[in-house]
Amino acid sequence: MDIRYFDELESTNNYCKLLDISHIEEFTVIVAGHQTAGIGQQGNRWESERGCNLTFSLILKPTFLPASKQYDLTMAVAVGMRNAVESLTGCKGVSIKWPNDIYVENKKICGILTTCSLSGGRIAHSVVGIGLNVNQTHFPSWVPNPISMNLLTQKNYELKQVLAFVLESISSSYNLLKDNSTEIRKQYLKNLFRRDCESDFVFNGETIRATIQDVNQFGHLQLVASDGRSLCCDMKEIKYLI
Ligand code: BTN
Repeated sequence: MDIRYFDELESTNNYCKLLDISHIEEFTVIVAGHQTAGIGQQGNRWESERGCNLTFSLILKPTFLPASKQYDLTMAVAVGMRNAVESLTGCKGVSIKWPNDIYVENKKICGILTTCSLSGGRIAHSVVGIGLNVNQTHFPSWVPNPISMNLLTQKNYELKQVLAFVLESISSSYNLLKDNSTEIRKQYLKNLFRRDCESDFVFNGETIRATIQDVNQFGHLQLVASDGRSLCCDMKEIKYLI
């Protein structure tokens, strides 16, 4: 595994765009001690205090996956991260908030941003950007529901050790995806935040109560609203009320 450390980058995901990925081996990791313009989902910023957390991008080449199965990769990485956070903190209640945030109870500890490049109907390569809150204890007020490993356990973690553990866990769920994608899907659904219980959401601007039933193969969230409607949503259509 090739791990490349940088004191500071704009964004590890953006740095990967500058690389000629065809000359980069799979499982190369770009790590930044600090990102000056970290990117989150849906155009948001990713906030992380210098030297406190893990901010890295992992280059994968899941050429075994057809383009239509991109969501399988999202599930595998989320399962690997969830398992790592559970083992590292010893906390129960570590879950995957659809599509791929890692939560502990009602708080977000890790965000994942995956981009895929397609070629001939298959995934040629993928850049998986991961931000894991490790030792940070104070967050700006605009960051929604943050938590860190330190806030959960009152321990200070060695970042290199946490990175090694996390990469091992992602590697094992990625290998499981190759052999048995059904098992990854099973583990993803089993650990899905607020599955099978009624909770509040905003769906296209309307506040609703609904129960998550499933996530389809394209990664759309399937819910049944309390008025009986079946809903199938992408990320732009639905927000959890937490
Ligand atoms: C989210 O909004 O939940 C996704 C956050 C992803 C953040 C990580 S930090 C490392 C990588 N580089 C970035 O600029 N973003 C991702």
